[in-house]
Amino acid sequence: MNTSISFNNIPPLAGAFTFEESQRQGLSVEECVKRLKCYHYILKRSHQVLNNRIASEPIYELKMAFSLHSHYCAEHVSAFRKRVGEMREPPLGLDSIPDENLEVLFDEIIASPSTIELLIGLYEVTFPFLKNSLLEHLEITNPLADHPSVRIIKFTLLEIEEMIAFGKSCLEEIANSNNSYNKTDWINLLNDCLRNVTDLNDQGDQSNTTISRKYSIEPYKFDGVPNRDERFPDPFNMGVNAEAFLYDEAFPPETKSLMMFYKRLREIDVPEMMSSIIAETPKKPWEYYKDMTRQLWDEARHAMMGEVGFVNLGINWPKEVMINHTWSLALNTQLTPKERHAVLYFIEQGLMPKTGKRFEWEIGKKSKNSLSALFQDYDWADEVLHARIGRDWYVPNFENSKEAIKYGDECWSKVLMDWNQYINEGKTKHHNWWPGLYRAACKSWGIEPNQEILKFDLSYETIRADLKTISSSG
Ligand SMILES: [Fe+2]
Ligand SMILES: [Fe+2]
Repeated sequence: MNTSISFNNIPPLAGAFTFEESQRQGLSVEECVKRLKCYHYILKRSHQVLNNRIASEPIYELKMAFSLHSHYCAEHVSAFRKRVGEMREPPLGLDSIPDENLEVLFDEIIASPSTIELLIGLYEVTFPFLKNSLLEHLEITNPLADHPSVRIIKFTLLEIEEMIAFGKSCLEEIANSNNSYNKTDWINLLNDCLRNVTDLNDQGDQSNTTISRKYSIEPYKFDGVPNRDERFPDPFNMGVNAEAFLYDEAFPPETKSLMMFYKRLREIDVPEMMSSIIAETPKKPWEYYKDMTRQLWDEARHAMMGEVGFVNLGINWPKEVMINHTWSLALNTQLTPKERHAVLYFIEQGLMPKTGKRFEWEIGKKSKNSLSALFQDYDWADEVLHARIGRDWYVPNFENSKEAIKYGDECWSKVLMDWNQYINEGKTKHHNWWPGLYRAACKSWGIEPNQEILKFDLSYETIRADLKTISSSG
């Protein structure tokens, strides 16, 4: 057929490849699958390392970054699993270890006792190695024949580079703070593991060094006790009942947006708690870990929305707002993983009615703080997804959803967060920090504090009976 369009200058091969690279001999399906299985394993174990350190890592920024990076790794694991399944591979063998040197590498990193060793292990050694292996894949494979792998590798690289850049900044900060840690032996041990990996090294680069385990001689033990840095000076403080304030019609919406920023920031305890469920619930389908990690990251985002809300108002939150960790501490140390999941589901399904997320969004809209409205809008949307994740992965353990909720209620009733005990043990005085926060906000708004609002003094203790029905987190 005659056409008036000349095709001489239209890029050939869908604009995606050159003729030269498309004639490359490249990797066979078998060689390709071997490499894909290694990437998959590296990402899966990286997800585990990051997840398992969220609770015990005290530095707030690292807690948040580990939440994001575990989500990145989980998503890429899913992509590589799917790709292996397309490569004539059943049985997929994705639960076996592709190379025992990779197993030793991650056993060492997950058991490393310090944050510095963890950061070096993942961000300075493992992720750059993975990046180079992925780039090498792009260089050697036939991009026309192996395009589905090429595509997911390109997406993976974007986030690997983001993670490497983050780790580099952290390690520079550590180096600047005169840390005397000598990293040479640690890096050598991990690099020896990586150089031994047959399927990801050219024969010239490959070595066969005997590895002596350093930290992983004893079996690894997960530590779910939450830790916080010095910006959380009163972690047992339950001196302000945000919910009582939010539902009291006497208080104006602007002041309520402060309480909502507090409620969001307090959600740091949700990733701390959820990571412990993920760490201690083995043998689930990978989709379970992927979905749970997505939710975990959403909860970390919610915490940062609170932080950003305070930053936006010029409020020094570590001084004005006492963010406690009583919920994650109690759940992680008093309940089994299944019971924790039950509590999470019980609380979250209670956030959907009128008094829940919609109410918070409406308050946000009525307040003069547009950021509060925006954050609550997305917080509500996220919550709908979380309810679905609960229905997919928690409810099927029961006859019906009623039973699932009943069990959640029972588990929540078992949790002991004792106001007086915390005082008696000298852990807190439950100081009422509301007047200070309100004064700081009034300064930012350029108004005089209202004496009635200033007087708000409704701690959890005063409405103890309701404590279990109005949830803290979600
Ligand atoms: Fe949340
Ligand atoms: Fe949630």
